Amino acid sequence: QAEDGIRDCLLSRGLGDVYKRQVIVLAAGKGTRMNSNRPKVLHEVGNFPLISHCIKTAQSINPQKILAVLGHRRTEIKNVLENSDTSIELVIQEAQLGTGHAVSIAIEELADFDGNVIVLFGDTPFVSAETMRKIEARSRQADLVVLGFHAPDPSGYGRLITNDNELLKIVEHKDANGQELALNLCNSGVMAGSSLVLKELLKELDRDNKNNELYLTDCVQLAKAKGLNCSYLVCEPKEALGINSLQQLSLAEKRFQETARTEALEIGIHLVAPETVFFSLDTEIGRDTIVEPNVIFGPGVKVGTGCTVKAFSYLERCNVSHNCSIGPYARLRPGVDLSEGVKIGNFVEIKNSKIAENSKINHLSYIGDTEIGENSNIGAGTITCNYDGANKHKTVIGKNVFIGSNTMLIAPLTVGNNSMTGSGSVITKDIPADNLAIARSEQNNKNGGAKKLKALLRNKKNKTKS
Ligand code: UD1
Ligand code: CA
Repeated sequence: QAEDGIRDCLLSRGLGDVYKRQVIVLAAGKGTRMNSNRPKVLHEVGNFPLISHCIKTAQSINPQKILAVLGHRRTEIKNVLENSDTSIELVIQEAQLGTGHAVSIAIEELADFDGNVIVLFGDTPFVSAETMRKIEARSRQADLVVLGFHAPDPSGYGRLITNDNELLKIVEHKDANGQELALNLCNSGVMAGSSLVLKELLKELDRDNKNNELYLTDCVQLAKAKGLNCSYLVCEPKEALGINSLQQLSLAEKRFQETARTEALEIGIHLVAPETVFFSLDTEIGRDTIVEPNVIFGPGVKVGTGCTVKAFSYLERCNVSHNCSIGPYARLRPGVDLSEGVKIGNFVEIKNSKIAENSKINHLSYIGDTEIGENSNIGAGTITCNYDGANKHKTVIGKNVFIGSNTMLIAPLTVGNNSMTGSGSVITKDIPADNLAIARSEQNNKNGGAKKLKALLRNKKNKTKS
C-alpha cells in the first residue's frame, strides 16, 4: 500500500511546482549533554542563539514556510522566535521520540504540500547559503539528499554508507560496527526530499536501535528498499559542526569568529590584529574603517565607513556614522547614535544618547540619556547625572556648547546653544543660549597662608610626639 502511496507522490511531484520548498528546523530536544539549564538551541554563538543562526540559514533559500519543532522548554524558545523578523510556524513535539518523530509531526502540518522539504537541526548553526542552494537544487533530481562531511573527529555523528555517488544508509555512531566506525564521512543532519515521499517513509520508521528512538536517518535505508534514489553532497566540516556539549559550543564560537574576521577583511575593514577582534552575527561595518586590537562588537552594532575604533573598546546596540573615532577604551552602550565625525575618547561611557556631527567627548566621561547638538565639546570628566535613585532624567545640550572639565550636569537639564560651563561646576538649572554658567564655590587666596599653616601643623605633630 505504501508503495502505491510513494508512486502517487512521485507522480504528483512531477505535475506540481517542483520549486516549492519549506524548511523544518528541529529544536525540541533536551540537549542533555550540555549540562545546562538553558535550552540547547538558546545557547549563543556570535551573541545570537543557535536557533537564530538556523533561521538565517533557512531564509537563505526563501522557503514558502519555516517550521520550527519545539518541545523541551518551548516557551523560552518561542519568545526568542517571536521577537525575530521572520514568521515561523511552531509545531509542538510533546515527547521527544527522536529526529524522525520530530520531522513526521512537522510534515503532518504541511498536509498535502507537494514540494520539497529541507530539514535542518537547531544545533547545527553554520550551514552556508551556498550549500543550502546546492542541497535544494539536488533535491529536485534525487528522491532524498543528505548533506555529509568528512569529520576530522567523527565520534558521535552518524556515518554515511555509500557506493560511489549513491547513499545506501546512515548508521548512527551508537549502532555502528567496527568497520562502520572507521568511516569518517558523516551526517550533518541536513536532509532534503519531496514532502510526500518523506511522509510515507517516516510512517515506516521503528525504534529498533540503541537509543530506542525514531531516527530520521533510517529514511535512507527505507527509501533504498523501495528503489528510490538517494544521494549525498559533501560540505566543509566547519559548516556541519553539531553542538551537543559546551566544548563544541566554544569550538563553534571560535569558528564563527574566524569566519567573521575573514569576511570583514575581504570587504575592506582593516583589522589590525584580527584574532583579537570579536564580532556578533549582525555586526555591520563599512569599508576603510580601522579596527585596532582587542575590540568587541556586541549585538546590534552598525559602524559606518572611514571610522577608527581604537584598542580595547566595547560597543553594543549602537549606531556609529561615518568618519567617527572611538576609543581607546571607550564603551558604547545600547541606544547610542553618533553622527558623522564624532569623537569619543578614552574611558568614556555613553548610553542611550544621540550626538550630532563633529561633537567631541574625549576623556573620562559618562554621558547617559542625553542629546548633544553639533560641534559641541564635552570636557574631561563631565558626568550627566541622569539617575536620582528612582528615575532616569534627560539632558539636552545644544550646538557649539563648551562644557568645562569635570562639570556635573544634574538632569533633567537643558543647556542652550553656544553656552559654556566653568570647570568643576555642578549645574542644576537650565542654561540659556549664549550664557556662561559657573556653579562652584569662590576661591580665596590668603597671603603667606601656606607658610603659617605648615608651621601650625608641625607644632601640633611635635606636641603629640612628646
Ligand atoms: C543527529 C543525527 C546524526 C548526525 C548528527 C549531526 C539522527 C538519528 N542522528 O545525531 O546522524 O550525525 O545529528 O549533528 O538524526 N530533536 C528533536 N526532537 C527529538 C530529537 C531531536 O527536535 O525527538 C532535535 C534536537 O533538538 C537537535 C536535533 O534534533 O536540534 C538533533 O538531535 P540530537 O539529539 O542532537 O542528534 P545527534 O545525536 O546529534
Ligand atoms: Ca546534535
